[in-house]
Amino acid sequence: EKVALGIDLGGTAIKFAAVTETGNIIATHHAPTEAEHGLEHVIENMMRGIAELIAQTKSVELSGIGIGVPGVVSLDGGTVSHPPNLPGWEVVRLGDAIAEKFRQVYGATKPVFVENDANLAALGEARFGAGTALNDFIMITLGTGIGAGIIINRKIFRGTTGAAGEFGHIPIDYNSETAHAGIHGSVEGFIGQRHIAEYARKLAKNHPDSLLHQLCPDLSQLEPKHITAAAEQGDPLALAIWQWVAEILGAGLGAIVSILDIRKFVIGGGVAGAGKYLFEPCLGALKRFTLSSMHEGIELLPAKLGNQAGVMGAAAQAL
Ligand code: BGC
Ligand code: NA
Repeated sequence: EKVALGIDLGGTAIKFAAVTETGNIIATHHAPTEAEHGLEHVIENMMRGIAELIAQTKSVELSGIGIGVPGVVSLDGGTVSHPPNLPGWEVVRLGDAIAEKFRQVYGATKPVFVENDANLAALGEARFGAGTALNDFIMITLGTGIGAGIIINRKIFRGTTGAAGEFGHIPIDYNSETAHAGIHGSVEGFIGQRHIAEYARKLAKNHPDSLLHQLCPDLSQLEPKHITAAAEQGDPLALAIWQWVAEILGAGLGAIVSILDIRKFVIGGGVAGAGKYLFEPCLGALKRFTLSSMHEGIELLPAKLGNQAGVMGAAAQAL
């Protein structure tokens, strides 16, 4: 059976997996991105992860390598442009760079495919996950960055230049004072993982009785999973934070429903771990932000592949 390596390059972590044609994961690895150390360092971290997978799958012949990146990728897959959460990257020929390093280290040439991370997560869910029975759906990834993969007629819709689906950069509050990636009041500027944590920290300071203080005594380390744990115990502040996230996400999704009339959303990424605390209020918000004549069939589905959607889609691309 054919095997490919899938790599999901995120703003915070890099995930690696060796995946067979039928969707079996036979090896995995995980490493920090350390984006603050610059492009070359991140490429080194990727090469170390590749070496780790090759060591784990010694006897297997690799078909190729697929890489999901958190930014806009050109239609031919050749360049990654200005990924918002990878500081210092401008226009990078990532596939060429990895293929060349691979050749130097292993003396073999492998095809390397580069594609937007959320597009690949969508492909993974379409092929092996929550989207196998859907012709059209939108995959939303909620992490450091917020992305979307648009599946129309079972294929990724890539737009005129390859950049379609930059959902995180939809403005939902044009009055907002703060800008993220140059855009005021964007979805990602509000509810990208770090922005949720920042918002929760601010609120927690004024709510000394919130469980967040017990679950994460050093608030500088606060992550969405702590807010979910507090919500599970009925903490009113935590529930209110997820309600706030849900409203913003719902406003963004409403824009998609209105424009594309696609009504199925597969929601993944670390922040989706909030589960019902996010999904239920988000469905309510989404309906308030769309015409009632468009409500029928609207559904928010949790990503079936969980955190593996990106690596599986990346490998699927290379297979
Ligand atoms: C980027 C997208 C990416 C998303 C998730 C956003 O900041 O602009 O291209 O898909 O983050 O990583
Ligand atoms: Na995308």
